[in-house]
This record gives sequence, structure tokens and C-alpha cells, in this order.
Amino acid sequence: MKDEPDLLVGLDLGTTKIAVVVAEMDTHSGEAQIIGVGEAPSMGIRKGMIVNLEQATRSIQAAVEDAESMVGLGIDKVTVAFSGAETTSVRTKGMISLGRSARQVTLEDVDRIIEAAQSEIAVPVNRCILHTIPVEYTLDGHSGIDDPLDMTGVRLEVELQSIIVPSAVIQNVVNCVSKAGLEVSGLVMKPLASSLGCLSNEEAMAGVVVVDLGGGTTGVSVFSEGRPRRLSVIPVGGDHITNDLACVLRIPISRADALKKNVSLSPDNLGQNEKIEVESMGKTLSFSVREVVEVIACRLDELFSSLVENELKESGVSMMPGGIVLTGGVSRLSGLDAYVSRLLDLPVRVAGPVDAGRMPPGMNSEEYTSGAGIIRYILEKERNPYRYMESDLPSEGGASSFRARRGRVGVSAGNGRKKVGDGALKTVMENIRKSVKDLF
Ligand SMILES: Nc1ncnc2c1ncn2[C@@H]1O[C@H](COP(=O)(O)OP(=O)(O)OP(=O)(O)O)[C@@H](O)[C@H]1O
Ligand SMILES: [Mg+2]
Repeated sequence: MKDEPDLLVGLDLGTTKIAVVVAEMDTHSGEAQIIGVGEAPSMGIRKGMIVNLEQATRSIQAAVEDAESMVGLGIDKVTVAFSGAETTSVRTKGMISLGRSARQVTLEDVDRIIEAAQSEIAVPVNRCILHTIPVEYTLDGHSGIDDPLDMTGVRLEVELQSIIVPSAVIQNVVNCVSKAGLEVSGLVMKPLASSLGCLSNEEAMAGVVVVDLGGGTTGVSVFSEGRPRRLSVIPVGGDHITNDLACVLRIPISRADALKKNVSLSPDNLGQNEKIEVESMGKTLSFSVREVVEVIACRLDELFSSLVENELKESGVSMMPGGIVLTGGVSRLSGLDAYVSRLLDLPVRVAGPVDAGRMPPGMNSEEYTSGAGIIRYILEKERNPYRYMESDLPSEGGASSFRARRGRVGVSAGNGRKKVGDGALKTVMENIRKSVKDLF
């Protein structure tokens, strides 16, 4: 009988679509080859959060079945990427003595120092730490040590980055995936998965911010010296732009979505009085390109100049030579890179998955970055279990314990239309601004 191949499966719980990325492990080279991607429209998930368990379960099952039929293999275990509202990043430090005379650092010392740094965190009730990420070790005052194991010294210090999420969010994700008949073998915050999915090592080392612009959320991850310094989820995405267009221009959501995908944010368009015609309810409506671009720009200005900029400040990373890497479905908006570059005065590039060449055509664009990133996350954890530590699932009391999981994780394998004047437009813009502010 032929052995079942060693599979790595990533399940990306998106607000717009559920994606399932399947990779096959080459046990000799230790490399993973993506062999298929399945997807299904996402129901029951809003702003990245599960709001209807039944619908979300059915969407997961449909995406998994799509992947199974593509690869011709059964899927029973998955590593899940999800967004959580109220995600916080906390930085703490720990220090331990290795004894009076210098000696080599052991695995027990690494466990001990991580525990020491974790003991500094006061985790609020009903929350748990999802990821514990050692940012940097210092041995006898020498900072910037990547991996202290087997190095010699007398005093070991660590700086930890801990990602705290509401326990109920994790529990709902696990329940939903279990109901879909799958075992959860790992969990990863989506901003971490998307950054691993699209960044080069050079960018991560230089200092860079990845902005994953999805349907209902925007994931922000700030990297420097190869390590994530801050991971966060902003509950605003492309669907908000679509809603803004639908409300301001009074057109159906489907037309607004199509308009958004066909307009360019080039600076010339801001002064552009050229008309765009939209068919709506049997009528032909006409808008100026400027009008459409202004609505989109209003939401983007708020998102980048206020919310993303705030995350950059909070990260404490001042040098960003790698600039901004945009990914996710909304990054396909024409002219967005130049627009964001002018807004934040940083170099900007739009990036899809690093592994795009190995993904099926049509399923290898920016929307699939986080899905592909789950596979990279699984591999990174396997190669270095101390790099991204996941907590065990929260116990009933909400407490969680940590372990660096050794071995394979996530494996098992116009006309008649009331014209919207400048005044009305301004009011709507104010409301958009207010709604964004009210979120925080
Ligand atoms: N060419 C395009 N131009 C502008 N927006 C686009 C384009 N293509 C897709 N989008 C938008 O991208 C969004 C979906 O992106 P994506 O698939 O990355 O989201 P998701 O991962 O399902 O959601 P989330 O990460 O927020 O949970 C939708 O708002 C969609 O309208
Ligand atoms: Mg997404």
C-alpha cells in the first residue's frame, strides 16, 4: 500500500473567502511544495470574527472539499489563521543567571527565561496569550542574539513579544473548525501569517510594515531585525470602502464593489470631471471620477494616516528602510501603492505570496498571501520551535500554558437620482471618520 503523503494544511478564515492551502512535505529536503488551494465564499464571518457558527462551518467544509478534490487527498487536520478583535501586543523582559562561572545555555535555561519574561504579563480575565515570540536575547550584556542555545555566558536576558486575544474568540474558532470535522493542530494570527507569506528575509531584517488589506479587516505587522515587533488587526477593510461608495452614491453594493475595482487612485483622477456611468435598478447613473475617488480616499486616509500610522508609532520601530508592503485583496486597487507612498512618505510595494509560482493560476494573487503564509509558519515552527510559541488552548478558567511544540505542528497529514451635493458628501465623510474613531 502506498504511504499517505505528509501534508501541511493551512485554513485561512477570511471575511470574504475561506482559503485552504495544501502543501506536501519533502522529508529529505525539509521543504514544502504547495500542491493545491481550495476556496469558498465566506459566510458567517464579519470583520474577521465568527458571527454565525453554522454558516461559517458550512463555508469551511466547502473550502476543504474544494481543496480535497484538487489534490485528490483527504484533509483531517489544519493550522488555522484567524483575526481577533481586541488583539494586543505586549512586550516584557526576563533575566536569569546561569551560575557563578560561565557555561553553555541549555533548552531548560531557554524555557526558564521565557517563563521569567512571561511572569511579568498580567493577562486580563477572559483573555489568553496566543503567541509568545522571543524578539531578542542578550548574553552577558551582548544584545542581538538570535538563538542562545549552546552559547556560553553567565547572564541570559530575553525580550518577549506576547500576542493576547480574547479566549472566546479562540474557542469559537476551534469549535467551528471542529464542527466542520477537522482537528485544529495549530493557530496563527492572520497578520503574522500574511507577513510570513510575502516578506523576503532582507525586508524583515531591514525593518518593514506589512499591511494586509482584506474584506473586513486590515492586518498590520511591523518587523525589524527579522522579528515581528507588533501584530495587530484593525476591523476596517475593503467592504467598508464598498459600503461608503454604496451609501454616498446610492447604488447597490454589487455596483459599488465593481466601481471600486475599476477606478484608479492616480493623482490626475482627483481633479477629474470625466463621468463614469453605473447601471442601477434599470437606470443609468452618472458620477465624476473625482467623486468616486474622493469617497475611496477618505476611508484610505483615515485607515493609513490615523490607524496604521498609530500602529507604527506603538511598535517603537523608527527606521523602516523596507517601507510598506501591501497585500490582501484591496492591495489590487489601481494606484494604491503610489497613493499610500505619498500619504506616509515611505516606499511602498504590492506583494502576493512568495510561493506564488507554486500555487494554481488564479489562486496565487494578493488575496492568498495569508493562506500561503500559514505553510511558512508551520515550517518555521518546525525548524525552530522556540521562534513562534503557541499557547495551549485556554482551559475553562481562561488560563493558558505555553510550550514550544517540538516536532511537526499542523500536520496530518443621475437620472432621477438625488444628486449628492458637496455638503451631503462632507456629512457622510464626517460619519465615516466618526465610525472609524468610535471603533477604538
Ligand atoms: N481588484 C481589486 N480592487 C480593489 N479591491 C479588490 C480587488 N479585488 C478584490 N478586492 C477587495 O478585496 C477584499 C477581499 O480581500 P481578501 O480576499 O484579502 O479578504 P479576506 O481575507 O477574505 O478578508 P479578511 O482578511 O478581512 O478577513 C474585498 O473587499 C474585495 O472587494
Ligand atoms: Mg485576509
